[in-house]
Amino acid sequence: MSMKALVYTGPGTVELLDRPKPTIRDPTDAVVRLLHASICGTDLHILKGDVPSAQPGLVLGHEGVGIVDQVGSAVLGLQVGDRVLISCMTSCGACRFCARGIVAHCETGGWILGNRIDGTQAEFVRIPHAALSLHPLPESIPPRAAVAMSDSFPTGYECGVLSAGVQLGGSVVIVGAGPVGMAALLTARLHSPSLIVVVDLDETRLAMAHRLGAHATVNSAAPDASQKLLDLTQGQGFDSVIEAVGIPATFALCQELVAVGGAIANVGVHGTKVDLHLEKLWDRNISIHMSLVNATTTARLLRLVESGTLDIGSLVTHNFPCAQAVTAYDIFQAASAHQALKVAIDFA
Ligand SMILES: NC(=O)c1ccc[n+]([C@@H]2O[C@H](COP(=O)([O-])OP(=O)(O)OC[C@H]3O[C@@H](n4cnc5c(N)ncnc54)[C@H](O)[C@@H]3O)[C@@H](O)[C@H]2O)c1
Ligand SMILES: [Zn+2]
Ligand SMILES: [Zn+2]
Repeated sequence: MSMKALVYTGPGTVELLDRPKPTIRDPTDAVVRLLHASICGTDLHILKGDVPSAQPGLVLGHEGVGIVDQVGSAVLGLQVGDRVLISCMTSCGACRFCARGIVAHCETGGWILGNRIDGTQAEFVRIPHAALSLHPLPESIPPRAAVAMSDSFPTGYECGVLSAGVQLGGSVVIVGAGPVGMAALLTARLHSPSLIVVVDLDETRLAMAHRLGAHATVNSAAPDASQKLLDLTQGQGFDSVIEAVGIPATFALCQELVAVGGAIANVGVHGTKVDLHLEKLWDRNISIHMSLVNATTTARLLRLVESGTLDIGSLVTHNFPCAQAVTAYDIFQAASAHQALKVAIDFA
């Protein structure tokens, strides 16, 4: 049997092709029929050739929601027909890293979907270590919106909010208002900080951050952006600083904004050398965290969505049927011009 799949065919190109439908290879596998997949900035990095492990011929995607189509004989807790969220991280649960909760570095998993093995932007996907890499998706959660729970929400929460130590009454600045920054904003609010400020270059995204609960926003294109931000804290700086862009300029800004005793959480993926100003920071009693998402909070975040505490409805702004998946990539590549945040591909 064949299926439609979005395949990375060479530098800068993605094509909708017929590929064989995946089957169970290991008893711990499941095959999922996709309802919705989404495109991530990381997929664009693959198209640019920035991810050497992702080679032409690969089916893209590490985000999606679907229905279990086949289950291997050793998969506990999942049945054919279950509606599931696919985690961006594959976890065996048993290796030395999984045992320590550092699932991102699982010896037979981690970020493999749409990277080392075929991913979710297809009618079907094979999920290794399915028992720990799929989450039952409650009926009350709309499946298209839930694609943001595969990666953006656990990343914003774990690599951003938790690593930056967001606290009751504290102050938070989030640099970068893409899906990850927005997810950090929404989950930071759950910890009731007294001030959340969002920084971006894109006024549409800043307006959205306002609607999602930011107390203030600052456009970092302004020459006095850093001073404007410090003024919002009476010159003290921010207790929690979250970098969600991944370029030297934004990490430099984060270093200017951290308060004495605060924390910088780097979330952005960096492709070039970045300066660390120890000469200014050595005596500030701060910490700096950096991490690849483990996605070990996903089940808890899903419970918050189910209870109505966390509203994930605003991240997916555009959706396209499978037949227009290449257009979906074009729109996502010009996200700012189209006022797009997350773009979903619908398979059902
Ligand atoms: N650590 C992890 O495990 C992990 C997981 C997923 C994504 N990421 C990374 O997190 C980052 C954010 O992801 P995303 O999907 O939200 O990306 P995105 O590209 O959609 O968003 C980045 C935002 O940064 C803004 N920006 C660019 N330059 C800026 C500047 N000079 N000042 C302020 N804002 C600026 C852009 O306008 C955009 O809104 C990316 O680097 C991504 O690769 C990391
Ligand atoms: Zn992603
Ligand atoms: Zn493991």
